Amino acid sequence: MNFLQIAQSRYTTKKYDPNKKVDEVTIENLKEIIRLSPSSINSQPWKFTFVSDEKVKSELAEFSYNNKQKVLNASHVVVFGVIKDAEAFENEKLTLLPEGVTSYYNRVLKPKGDAQVMTWLTSQVYLSLGFFLSATASLGIDSTPMEGIQTEAYDRVLQNGDYKTLFAVAIGYRDNEDSNQPTHTPKFRLEKDQIIRSI
Ligand SMILES: Cc1cc2nc3c(=O)[nH]c(=O)nc-3n(C[C@H](O)[C@H](O)[C@H](O)COP(=O)(O)O)c2cc1C
Repeated sequence: MNFLQIAQSRYTTKKYDPNKKVDEVTIENLKEIIRLSPSSINSQPWKFTFVSDEKVKSELAEFSYNNKQKVLNASHVVVFGVIKDAEAFENEKLTLLPEGVTSYYNRVLKPKGDAQVMTWLTSQVYLSLGFFLSATASLGIDSTPMEGIQTEAYDRVLQNGDYKTLFAVAIGYRDNEDSNQPTHTPKFRLEKDQIIRSI
């Protein structure tokens, strides 16, 4: 499949087949792909937690609102976290980056204040979500991005330390009856002329 075909066929899976698991080789590939996600100034302010343990998945499911069954039945749940604050970012990540980008951070970003730095760091993690959703689809894996979770409870269950949960992605293989697949429910998207300008 080329990328256009992947974009047309991937979809948010609403019902998983609990008996189909993603094999370990593919999971290792996904870990390497997510590690390679791009980020502004190569800041990499993230932690990706791959959960396959059924007991931990069950605990997370209790804090997943309407996503409960997806968390229970998916093969894995990948939890995306951002480093907890600007100070931790500066101590744990910025020190690993070249002088040119640290001076850009100190001159341009840091003076905007902690809240804006956190917004900027969080944006980088969302970018990795797009990368990950495309990657899973290219490997023939179904997925569900999930903001509908109780992030603080996820932090407690996962003992996240210096990272705060932002969202999670369930991955696995669809139940054949899943009514959200594009063959059953066509994708709704705004038309090109509503969202794209060419000048
Ligand atoms: C950041 C983000 C959070 C989302 N959270 C949820 C969620 O909690 N539960 C869910 O079923 N779908 C969730 N979705 C799926 C969107 O509703 C879906 O991507 C959108 O309707 C487009 O449909 P498609 O992904 O099938 O093309 C989320 C999507 C994104 C990008």
